[in-house]
Amino acid sequence: MRVAVFSSKAYDRLFLDQANEASRHELVYFEPPLTAETAALAAGFRGVCAFVNDRLDQEVLRQLHNSGTELIALRCAGFNNVDLAEAERLGITVARVPAYSPHAVAEHAVALLLSLNRMTYRAYNRVREGNFSLDGLLGFDLYGKTVGVVGTGKIGLIFTDIMHGFGCRVLASDPAPDPNAKAFVHYVPLEKLLAEADIISLHCPLTPQTHHLIDAQAIARMKDGVVLINTGRGRVVDTRAVIDALKSGKIGRLGLDVYEEEEQLFFQDLSQRVIADDLFMRLTTFPNVLITGHQAFFTREAMSHIAETTLANISAFEQGSGTLHRISADRLA
Ligand code: NAI
Repeated sequence: MRVAVFSSKAYDRLFLDQANEASRHELVYFEPPLTAETAALAAGFRGVCAFVNDRLDQEVLRQLHNSGTELIALRCAGFNNVDLAEAERLGITVARVPAYSPHAVAEHAVALLLSLNRMTYRAYNRVREGNFSLDGLLGFDLYGKTVGVVGTGKIGLIFTDIMHGFGCRVLASDPAPDPNAKAFVHYVPLEKLLAEADIISLHCPLTPQTHHLIDAQAIARMKDGVVLINTGRGRVVDTRAVIDALKSGKIGRLGLDVYEEEEQLFFQDLSQRVIADDLFMRLTTFPNVLITGHQAFFTREAMSHIAETTLANISAFEQGSGTLHRISADRLA
């Protein structure tokens, strides 16, 4: 099948081309993200391969439909940027990679936590400058602390395993608790988790219910000096409320891999440009904030798996057989 691959970087080509050796689809790579302005590039392509921040709203989907696209193969798990109802109306199939390496994301959340706790990102620069002072680098033992995990799906549960290994007490909140969760995972209402956790890590998807789940009210319930980690989705957190809480000291440390307005920033080299997002720039001024640009998924294992599943989705759609990880408005596969 001819597939237009949007938001493609050198590393996407590498892994997709490798995975395509067997299936031999015609992949045409476009660097720009998929938007209403770039959707015309997909004219005549039966398949479109999109990434996490590509926009698949009503306008874009209609354009794609009018120019012959029948399949959207997302090379990611999250599909909050896709208007599924519109895709269904237009008869466009939407497929995704439901799980690639939940370990990659859970391990990155732990990397943010460890780095923030012991301030290794600051120590690194100090030592290189011959500054061996320890002032400002004081951390705490993770052992014995209470960790609150919001969302115990594939990633959240692996995160609980790792934190249990550190000797932490694990609280969890999820509207659909996993009956197979290990005994050390104590499900509690979100309010209790917020009130008791020393460390809170967000692993829920972005839905209307989780939009700004962490707002000023939720933060007010947290312990003073709490560590907040978000590798889920940026809009789960109200950035303005978090900035206020950093200023007051309510939030002690903040680790983000995702950001509310990341579509304008992440996955690009903007180092020669003026960044106009004042909220984001304010976040970068805090010594106790560590931000990575949506890289939690970015391991060799995850990239291989993403490429293989994406190509398998395209083949399954074309041949009408095999596993197609289709998403529909009312049912997930
Ligand atoms: P999953 O679908 O296996 O688990 C999500 C869990 O969140 C489910 O158990 C669900 O019941 C729960 N949930 C839903 N609403 C909730 C609420 N209001 N409060 C608490 N829990 C709630 O998803 P998975 O694979 O564990 O991924 C979780 C999220 O991580 C994804 O939705 C995505 O947004 C994010 N992600 C981030 C990546 C990154 O590179 N930073 C990469 C992959 C995923």
